[in-house]
Amino acid sequence: MPADIQPFHAIAIALLANELKRQGRTVIHMEFGQPSTGAPAAALAVAHRVLDSDPMGYWENPALKARIARHYAELHGVEISPERILLTCGASPALVLAISCLFAPGATVAVARPGYVAYRNTLRALHVEPLELDCGEAERFQVTAAAVAALDPAPNGLIIASPANPTGTVIAADELAAIARVCSERGISLVSDEIYHGISYVGPVASALTVDPQALVINSFSKYFSMAGWRLGWLVVPGDLVGPARARMGNLFLTPPSLAQHAALAAFDCRDELEGHIATYARNRKLMLASMEALGLRQIAPPDGAFYIYADVGHLTRDSLGFCRRMLEETGVATAPGLDFDPVHGNRFIRFSFAVSTELVEEGLARLKPWFAAQPLISDAARE
Ligand SMILES: Cc1ncc(COP(=O)(O)O)c(C=O)c1O
Repeated sequence: MPADIQPFHAIAIALLANELKRQGRTVIHMEFGQPSTGAPAAALAVAHRVLDSDPMGYWENPALKARIARHYAELHGVEISPERILLTCGASPALVLAISCLFAPGATVAVARPGYVAYRNTLRALHVEPLELDCGEAERFQVTAAAVAALDPAPNGLIIASPANPTGTVIAADELAAIARVCSERGISLVSDEIYHGISYVGPVASALTVDPQALVINSFSKYFSMAGWRLGWLVVPGDLVGPARARMGNLFLTPPSLAQHAALAAFDCRDELEGHIATYARNRKLMLASMEALGLRQIAPPDGAFYIYADVGHLTRDSLGFCRRMLEETGVATAPGLDFDPVHGNRFIRFSFAVSTELVEEGLARLKPWFAAQPLISDAARE
């Protein structure tokens, strides 16, 4: 029997949002975690140029791999040979490669709950058992070394994300080192999803490669580089997994899009434009946090990075998908239901993505304030 995979419910919200737009409504898209800014101008210029000159065959851009290796040396002080980097069609296939290289069917892999929906579903699709660690507000929704040390028996693997989706919270550098230590002592393979690196409001975020040279690290051009639709990311593997990872890449995905690989190399030189986006997110984050009280949303963990606010709406609903749908229909503001990130407590939460312009954040908040004020509290019995 194939594994039962849950849908990504935010997609249903996005479909409804598009239907409302087709009917002439103005919709503010806070449901998907994707920058609204598009690829940097210089990357686009390169793409326009190579369209006329490159036959776009199967290709791995050696210059891009070397540039990514340089990025680790410059930002994290770790030396990685370009051979250890696989270019993938985004972080999503990098996750598939990482899981299928490390784990046999029936293995168990710990993940934070709440966490990115695809971890548990991709694990299940590959017949690996997700072991969800309940990470509450006290741990800022993050995995801790103590929680990993307490698992009995030890799982085969651990997937972490810092900054995380849906909360934007970061694992502090010393905690990351402690997690790596516990994993190495207990024979747990560490996979670190670093897709939100570069989008931080608390200073630089450490890569798992600084504390565990054996860690598999996932990254992508979808977030910091604002190139989600270009479908390009990468996976860093230790030397002994280069062969197995390349064999899987070649069979499952061949190569990522050539056009994206050309553009991405240029994107590394677009720091000013990209840092401008981070400044916008920082402004949006401030506006959002300042408005939470007015929305009656008091239980949130302020995000350290990424562009999300994961808010407890448990006083208003126990059906986050229905709540998001109604909010969209009545205000035109689209958000993601917590159910996507947490199958146990997620019906009490929603996720706002503030990766839109500051004007749209202001407009969204203006629409939401009277709407939230008009929502009836649910009864204590319904809260049980
Ligand atoms: C934590 C996390 N990992 C991976 C992905 C997948 O990203 P990509 O577009 O690179 O496939 C996302 C997308 O939102 C994400 O939030």
